[in-house]
Amino acid sequence: MAQWRIKRLLQLSVSVIVVYGLSMLYAYHKHNVEKSNELQRDRDVGFQYGVRDVNVKESSDSKEKIKWSRQAVSTSPMNITNATVPEDTVSLKKLQEYYNNVSVPWTQNSTALDVMRMELDRGLTTWVHLIVTQDNISPGSDLRFTAWPGRAAITEKIHALLPKKSPYSQKRIPRCSVIGNSGILKDSGCGAEIDKAEYVFRCNAAPIQRYSRDAGEKTNLTTINKSVLHDRYMALKSLEHQFQFHNDMIEYNGLLWVPAYANRPYLDDCYNARRTFKSENSEIVFGHPHHFTQVSKYWAAQGVHGILTTGFYLVSAALNLCEETHVFGFWPFLETPDGETIKFHYYDDVGFTSRTKRIHEIPLEFQLLYEHHRRGILRMHIGKCK
Ligand SMILES: *[C@@H]1O[C@H](CO)[C@@H](O)[C@H](O)[C@H]1NC(C)=O
Ligand SMILES: *[C@@H]1O[C@H](CO)[C@@H](O)[C@H](O)[C@H]1NC(C)=O
Ligand SMILES: *[C@@H]1O[C@H](CO)[C@@H](O)[C@H](O)[C@H]1NC(C)=O
Ligand SMILES: *[C@@H]1O[C@H](CO)[C@@H](O)[C@H](O)[C@H]1NC(C)=O
Ligand SMILES: *[C@@H]1O[C@H](CO)[C@@H](O)[C@H](O)[C@H]1NC(C)=O
Ligand SMILES: *[C@@H]1O[C@H](CO)[C@@H](O)[C@H](O)[C@H]1NC(C)=O
Repeated sequence: MAQWRIKRLLQLSVSVIVVYGLSMLYAYHKHNVEKSNELQRDRDVGFQYGVRDVNVKESSDSKEKIKWSRQAVSTSPMNITNATVPEDTVSLKKLQEYYNNVSVPWTQNSTALDVMRMELDRGLTTWVHLIVTQDNISPGSDLRFTAWPGRAAITEKIHALLPKKSPYSQKRIPRCSVIGNSGILKDSGCGAEIDKAEYVFRCNAAPIQRYSRDAGEKTNLTTINKSVLHDRYMALKSLEHQFQFHNDMIEYNGLLWVPAYANRPYLDDCYNARRTFKSENSEIVFGHPHHFTQVSKYWAAQGVHGILTTGFYLVSAALNLCEETHVFGFWPFLETPDGETIKFHYYDDVGFTSRTKRIHEIPLEFQLLYEHHRRGILRMHIGKCK
């Protein structure tokens, strides 16, 4: 009997070791894949449309992306992406069709929205877990990185550095705007429409004051990507950079959301940024990696297998934080529906440098936002506002 137990124990521990080894191997492989994708992405600035950042895994190989889009058949009971088989080329006619179809009167479908909210919040509730707070993590525990193997320990000291509690409550904000940064916003005159919302989400520290007519001026949560914090401000390591960062961040109100728990190498810099940044109207907060993972899993089941863009993640979060979610500037095409050439971002002059021709596939995220508009789950705005 004892012998049998020992044998069984041995078998068990061997399988535990094997599973552990395999999962470490997998994590390491995943990290390498992401690393190389990140490098590739940095080279091909051409693909970004304003909402890509450190969390994004995106191959610049268009063939691969088309394949990836074609697999977008849902396995969930909702079958959200059934209709999503993007074409290889996007004709101007199709762009006009998108425009026309989102321009017809829109009504919210609260049944469909409620189902989706429930699915998205299965596990961690968005209003509690959008950012890491003293209330939603205890000292001595840890958080898993989203794009790196291993976990970050939450020591007493780190815990004390976190905001005390979530700025959100169970009561939803009546209306929110989420801004992708596409060049389609330029000369759109959408500022007033965007600012009708009580709460405005923005990505990649996009400049606003100079563009308020087109992009509005309200800001309540703004994401800051790795390149902004680390390249432009040298991770706030010197007084000079801290000063410059403070000066530049004056135009943002509310939360400056940083994906601190994406990659381990940047974690300490993020802590440092929170420690040193003191402002009356804004503070640096950290995205909750497990919430990000949960939302990613939801979309993976809908066929989105790459790492989500922050813009798309914020839209998913807004659905649970807000009664009504309006999205602007999510437009991954080279032209407006009128056929005018546009830039990547509404705020800079970066053209589609590495791709002079039309982008040959529709990024799946856009297609999904569009379909959710059609289902009455969110409201997409394309083109000029009246
Ligand atoms: C990060 O933000 C900056 C400033 O808004 C932008 O120019 C850059 O393209 C972004 N980088 C990525 C990888 O999204
Ligand atoms: C969802 O789509 C898949 C693939 O088309 C199909 O096999 C499945 O039956 C669908 N499920 C529902 C509930 O419609
Ligand atoms: C998805 O496809 C399946 C099988 O083709 C179909 O039964 C179902 O109605 C579709 N669902 C939606 C939401 O279009
Ligand atoms: C626009 O709406 C029409 C009518 O509902 C539909 O036939 C067409 O496929 C839609 N276009 C796109 C791009 O979804
Ligand atoms: C609202 O969504 C539900 C669930 O997806 C669907 O059954 C219903 O037909 C929709 N209602 C309208 C008015 O479109
Ligand atoms: C959103 O930000 C604006 C300023 O940009 C501020 O006036 C407003 O009170 C904020 N809304 C919420 C709900 O915090």
